[in-house]
Amino acid sequence: MDNIKNYVGQNKDRFINELIELLKIPSVSADSAYSQDVINTADAVKASLEKAGCDHVEICETPGYPIVYGEKIIDKNLPTILVYGHYDVQPADPVELWTSPPFEPVIKKTDLHPEGAIFARGACDDKGQMYMHVKALEYMVQSNSLPCNVKFMIEGEEEVGSPSLAWFVERNQDKLANDVILISDTGMISNTQPSITTGLRGLSYVEVEVTGPNRDLHSGLYGGAVANPINVLAKMIAQLHDENNHITIPGFYDKVEELTRDERDEMAKAPFSLDAYKQALDIQDVYGEATYTTNERNSIRPTLDVNGIWGGYTGEGAKTVIASKAYAKISMRLVPAQDWNEITELFTRHFTSLAPKGVRVKVTPHHGGQAYVTPIDSVGYKAAALAYEESFGIKPIPVRSGGSIPIVALFEKELKSKTIMMGFGLDSDAIHSPNEHFGIFNYLKGIETIPLFYKHFTELSK
Ligand code: BES
Ligand code: MN
Ligand code: MN
Repeated sequence: MDNIKNYVGQNKDRFINELIELLKIPSVSADSAYSQDVINTADAVKASLEKAGCDHVEICETPGYPIVYGEKIIDKNLPTILVYGHYDVQPADPVELWTSPPFEPVIKKTDLHPEGAIFARGACDDKGQMYMHVKALEYMVQSNSLPCNVKFMIEGEEEVGSPSLAWFVERNQDKLANDVILISDTGMISNTQPSITTGLRGLSYVEVEVTGPNRDLHSGLYGGAVANPINVLAKMIAQLHDENNHITIPGFYDKVEELTRDERDEMAKAPFSLDAYKQALDIQDVYGEATYTTNERNSIRPTLDVNGIWGGYTGEGAKTVIASKAYAKISMRLVPAQDWNEITELFTRHFTSLAPKGVRVKVTPHHGGQAYVTPIDSVGYKAAALAYEESFGIKPIPVRSGGSIPIVALFEKELKSKTIMMGFGLDSDAIHSPNEHFGIFNYLKGIETIPLFYKHFTELSK
């Protein structure tokens, strides 16, 4: 423990500078304008794994962006940890809301990060958190303290739904064989109260198109006489929730597992200030499903949210027009036992049924995945809890997160092992938003905590 603290202390400037170099490459997987940058980032990750001490590293081609695979196998009889992370990032837009350019990383202090935080797209999600694992390996190799085998699988398509990863995992089950999967791509409660993410929500993401007349029309000559696709779309969307903010899609809740009162009481023990929450977001009040708390609404309950809506005239000034088409992108966050394919079908059927005769509706599924819950009595969870306790001096709390890493449920199905999510980000780190950042404290604490997981996992596996 002291050794890793010393090592981090002596090397922290280099660790920060290496991450900064990685963050300069704009590996935006959603935008093909950046495709060469995404590929270059894979090469940079490969080089970093080689330097850190992997015996074998390769770029694995897929139908999409490559997966970087690395390993260090010290003894076939020892346990194997498979580290998963992603080197792609979300688009940076709206760029004008960044206080410094998204791909020119800078260190700035914030209220929650008095030691400073690195501001850049991908700083926390997930380059910074992924790179903690590379540096933790470097330490274990340098200090001759790697207690078990390790494999890395770092992908470049997580932010677009991991379309090639399932393909890769299905074809490489032997190569990826492991005893536990370790991911740092989530958050924790605060720097003084660590937590371990035990749940991720599932996801169904769809796009809808409502078509009215065959061309845009003069809103005076035709207004009032034909269905306006934008009016209709707004009305259809409004009908997807009732007055209690329950989702109205028939069958949507059929498989949702209700938590017991005891489980909900246990959850409510995690420190949380509603006032601080409202203040941080500058809102007068929270909003959501009746009879559930804010922390329940954003973790153990399914949701339906419009992510984008467009159509008609949005340029300068006014144009009197009835658009021919209106569109929306809609995400549904799902909880265990809800099947994302089934939910996509239920949505499609219900949404289509809401359309008046004057319009046509098309629903196109984008991507999705199942929810995931990891048990807290597994060797992996216990090892993670001991690791946090040792490095923070405080016992971590298990917390179910609202976010999704859809591929995790598939890992369990294909590779038959549990996933442990040791996240070091904070909700306020603005992932996917302008001014994303990752605390220096969090980055270095992550590097310190990871080798302790290796140690405890290997010991507890004996
Ligand atoms: N790292 C996030 C997911 C996350 C963040 C989970 C914080 C828990 C806490 C991941 O990169 C992500 O953004 N996932 C997407 C889904 C994906 C299919 C685009 C999400 O949750 O929206
Ligand atoms: Mn991520
Ligand atoms: Mn993300």
